Amino acid sequence: DCGDSIRNTYEQMAGGPWDLPRTSLILTNQQLGNGQFGQVKKGFVRMRGTKIPVAIKSLKENASEKDKRDFLNELTILKQVGKHPNVVCLVGACHIQGVMYVAMEYAKHGDLRTFLRKSRKLRQHDYGNCGASPFVSKTMLLRFALNTSQGLRHLADKQIIHRDVAARNVLLGDHLVAKIADFGLSKNDETYVKTSSTRVPIRWMAVESLFNNTYTTQSDVWSFGVVLWEIFTLGGTPYSSTDTQQLFNLLKDGYRLKRPRLCDQNAYAMMLQCWNEIPERRPTFPELCGRLQRMLEDCQ
Ligand code: ADE
Repeated sequence: DCGDSIRNTYEQMAGGPWDLPRTSLILTNQQLGNGQFGQVKKGFVRMRGTKIPVAIKSLKENASEKDKRDFLNELTILKQVGKHPNVVCLVGACHIQGVMYVAMEYAKHGDLRTFLRKSRKLRQHDYGNCGASPFVSKTMLLRFALNTSQGLRHLADKQIIHRDVAARNVLLGDHLVAKIADFGLSKNDETYVKTSSTRVPIRWMAVESLFNNTYTTQSDVWSFGVVLWEIFTLGGTPYSSTDTQQLFNLLKDGYRLKRPRLCDQNAYAMMLQCWNEIPERRPTFPELCGRLQRMLEDCQ
């Protein structure tokens, strides 16, 4: 019975560092993220005389088995992730009248994909190499990429495979710092082989995940390459005119996403390396962080 599993999970946390007193949680009705994250609402946690804004996910005892599994899985992962400036961190959890609430750091600028798409409308003209656009400069795009790779390097250090790395799951906090979020599908495992058939983010998946259901940190690197492509297309949809069967065939034949107009050869080479058919030949997150850091320095 999963009502029990919620209570058990919560009881394991009771008295621990993530246990929030019920009275400290302030719920609002303001929905966050267009429902793509399930039920996420804005709230506050009272701490030392102040109210800090949080994003609150809730789970009712009568939720579906799948929702319960994803929710409790995400909570377990969040506890393991700990604190990092480029990861959306856990604030705490509590259980009120059969509902479990998980409070996470609130990222006030929303998700990266939506932010990039909005910035399109603001662009007055394109910019060349390292040239400045009034709204999203190349520096800003590289900083989003660097922040995201730093968050993913932290997860890799903790042996956490995210499995849903995509711009919709990158949130922007204060000063537009990018943070990786949504650990609903994450696993703490060196290699995770998916057995059941659940909805999966096909267009972000590495070839070995698509063809063999195999997930590793190096398959997260492939997905990060797709995030780079999303960044440099200002929130484009990968393989937008391709259906699933075509996509399988194209990837098998070695076809890859084209170079976005805003992306220089250097950054495109990085994407192509992330999409190497052989996982071990892809760059690692520490390498990607180093290279993005240098690209950013060259730009400033
Ligand atoms: N939408 C989903 N999670 C969020 C968060 N942590 N901050 C802001 N918006 C969100």
